[in-house]
Amino acid sequence: MSLFIRKPLNQLLAQEGADSEKGLKRTLGPLNLIALGIGAIIGAGLFVRTAAAAGDAAGPAVVISYIVAGIGCAFAGLCYAEFASMIPIAGSAYAYAYVTMGEFMAWVIGWALVLEYALASATVSIAWSEYLNSLLGGAIPYEWCHSPWETSVAGVGGIVNLPAIFILIVLTLVLIKGTQESANLNAVIVFVKVSIVLVFIALGWGFINDANYTPFTIPADFVGHEAWNKHGWGGVLGGASIVFFAFIGFDAVSTAAQEAKNPKRDMPIGLLGSLAICTILFVLFSYVLTGLANWQEFKVAGKEASVAYAINNYMPGYGWLATLITVAILAGFSSVILVMLMGQSRVFYSMSKDGLVPKVFSELHPKFRTPFKANWILFVFVALFGGFVPGSVAGDLTSFGTLFAFVLVCLGILVMRSKNPEAVRPFKTPLVPFVPIMGMLICSALIYGLDYKTQLMAFGWLLLGLVIYFVYSKKNSVLRKG
Ligand code: ALA
Repeated sequence: MSLFIRKPLNQLLAQEGADSEKGLKRTLGPLNLIALGIGAIIGAGLFVRTAAAAGDAAGPAVVISYIVAGIGCAFAGLCYAEFASMIPIAGSAYAYAYVTMGEFMAWVIGWALVLEYALASATVSIAWSEYLNSLLGGAIPYEWCHSPWETSVAGVGGIVNLPAIFILIVLTLVLIKGTQESANLNAVIVFVKVSIVLVFIALGWGFINDANYTPFTIPADFVGHEAWNKHGWGGVLGGASIVFFAFIGFDAVSTAAQEAKNPKRDMPIGLLGSLAICTILFVLFSYVLTGLANWQEFKVAGKEASVAYAINNYMPGYGWLATLITVAILAGFSSVILVMLMGQSRVFYSMSKDGLVPKVFSELHPKFRTPFKANWILFVFVALFGGFVPGSVAGDLTSFGTLFAFVLVCLGILVMRSKNPEAVRPFKTPLVPFVPIMGMLICSALIYGLDYKTQLMAFGWLLLGLVIYFVYSKKNSVLRKG
């Protein structure tokens, strides 16, 4: 049988109907979904990577980097929305690929999504540990809050990142308790984190020093022989690849399709609504941050906890705001981890229903009806990364996996329009083929902007996926067994 055997759309939708009788509960409305999106989006990307992108690649033009990355996400988001409304089932891009491009491509996407969701949770748990330690005034000994691959300035080596593992356990427990509970907790956190971003923008605006915006991009003669993506307009693209991480998560809305009350209408609202709100916040936030402190400071003193640094140094009298923001950031990171862990377990849920990964990933808790075994297995996997890998490595791999999935989702729209033109599409991606093609181009450019080592490691991950597919998944595929 062909590698590209496709799951018939009707069969998928029928299976979904039968599933909801005894499967995941439908409890999420449009506002829950927007909150789910914002919950996953605003996190380490905004609060950690904005400064990194300004200091290392784009300078104050990081504002433009945000716009470039946001446009790429918008094109991909419009494609996601069409799929999410026509195929409203758990599993997101993976499930879409199964009907459009066939089992093999579905597997490749599902495997790339592990990089996205699982490693994003790990990355943010590492950032959580960093900010916790900063709130505690550095009370946690270096070796217990860093991976073995890191060494402090004083020469102390890391052993394991315990706070990262701790927050992952707590959130795994919350997730097992139930989707509605998780959604409620998420809604509270989203409120806190959006408020804090707004307060920072509003109060910081008055302290902006216009001189910080000149020069607008990093001058070539300033950085000498640095790579093309570290200065000038190349640096703006390099910066976009870095801040892309901040947008990751709006697509996680689509993994909850099977838990939405009215997925056909609410999926596009959840996806595009959360993306639009966050893009506006990001642009304003990065404008204020690079207006308060000069981008060069983000290379040195302002490198860590950059937001608190900018407030403490350039907003006299607002020390309280720095502490408050740190607390809100800790809460904010928790909701990112929560949604990402949930997204990953839902992707595995779908893949397991299809026989591509073992059954244990779709066994539901008798009382909570959540895939609790999947949650625990996932915890072990994510904790290995959170505890033993540096944040930057996990973060770049996350971006790769996500961009890769975005490119394939855009391609999927083109394939679906030509192979199933008559299928009912409650939400239609506008301007096809322009929008999917632009989505593919911009997301590919952002992959190109990532560093070479990341590309190599991600390639290794995809190869491992191929081996598993041919050794296990292909033989156990429910679709192949008829
Ligand atoms: N977008 C999420 C974050 O910034 C992954 O933390």
